[in-house]
Amino acid sequence: MSVTDPLTDYDIFDRDYVLDPFPVQEAIRESGCPIAHTERWGGSWLPTRYEDVVALAQEYETFTSRQILVTAPPPQQAEGAYAGVAAPPISSDPPEHHWHRRLILPFFAPQAVAKYEEGTRDLCNQLIDRFVESGEGDAAADYAQQIPVRVIATMLGVPTDLSDTFTGWVRGVLEAGLTDPKIRLESRMKILDYFKEQIEDRKANPRENDLITTLLNSEVDGQKVPEEYVHGVCNLMLVAGVDTTWSAIGASLWHLAQHPEHRRQLRENPDLWPMAIEELLRAYAPVTMARLVDHDVEFQGCPMKAGDRVLMAFPAANRDPRQFENPDEVILDREHNRHVAFGAGIHRCAGSNLARLELRVALQTWLARIPEFELVDPESVTWAGGQVRGPRICKVRF
Ligand code: HEM
Repeated sequence: MSVTDPLTDYDIFDRDYVLDPFPVQEAIRESGCPIAHTERWGGSWLPTRYEDVVALAQEYETFTSRQILVTAPPPQQAEGAYAGVAAPPISSDPPEHHWHRRLILPFFAPQAVAKYEEGTRDLCNQLIDRFVESGEGDAAADYAQQIPVRVIATMLGVPTDLSDTFTGWVRGVLEAGLTDPKIRLESRMKILDYFKEQIEDRKANPRENDLITTLLNSEVDGQKVPEEYVHGVCNLMLVAGVDTTWSAIGASLWHLAQHPEHRRQLRENPDLWPMAIEELLRAYAPVTMARLVDHDVEFQGCPMKAGDRVLMAFPAANRDPRQFENPDEVILDREHNRHVAFGAGIHRCAGSNLARLELRVALQTWLARIPEFELVDPESVTWAGGQVRGPRICKVRF
């Protein structure tokens, strides 16, 4: 059924919305009611103003993270072998959220992620070697998609040659699985089965400086952390670390393919990279998380009920003209850029240092090897949307 009024009937899985959500978000934002509601896909609220999204993120007692996907989990999830395994810290609320997050932060400190830079650059070069001679390649499937999954596998100490399998599982949870409970459940089970084995292996054969081993040996208040926590963290690392960064790299290349002036600007001003990365993240923020309303509340005049979902539309907030001048324009040297691509408040992305590193290295390596390129056919670019938005097929020639 096609959408007639986005204010009361938006559909985040609608083909046109996935392709270009910004006009719909703008229409909602500039209407008298900047928080829209829909009954579709189990119902949800969609705030579109920066101020509202940030305020919602701060009110974590009302807007909880018990369920962060935009559609409800399949009922069988609460019954199966891994019913108690979640995705800490993203699915945790305070007070547990505090230690759930604290234990993983050291792995993502700037010095800790710096050690992945050289390997990521080598990987990017190897990927480009595979297609550069042909004068054509798929910037999304042959390049962007291949990078974060291998980086996160390295970090987790699991084989990088399983990257296609891991990617399939993650897409099962975050793409097809959002509207297909069977795929979602199966994909989740495959991820959890796999990491259960990895945990058993680390218990039998502890490894040095290994994320899984370190977490298994961690203590909170003098007690070893529950194994379910470690299992849940592994689950989240894979799910949070793959589609997100791949989408950001892919969308940035899609943009650069169409903007020779930006390619030139980056070539002529290498110092611009840090600002340019932030601007590309702002403009093409891939992630929309959800919150579950804990108790009936009126938020900005909207009567939200316990059990309702609220979409944390970080991409919409990043295009709010009240916060960003000319928000639809990509301005690589934008000065005021307090974007929320990595979220806001207590759940702000724990992996942002790694994500920024991967994005920068992937784009710098591409531009060094392929300075000039363009889309083969803008119409043939396909996008995934819903929870994580980014190009999935993006053929370019050079
Ligand atoms: C460009 C890439 C990425 C983007 C845009 C992104 C975006 C986000 C956003 C918006 C949140 C907040 C979710 C919420 O409020 O519910 C988040 C949380 C999180 N992200 Fe990322 N992310 C990216 C890459 C990564 C990577 C590579 C990792 C590492 C595995 C990662 C790990 C996490 C974790 C652990 C959290 C939960 C933090 C908490 O709840 O305290 N992310 N991310």
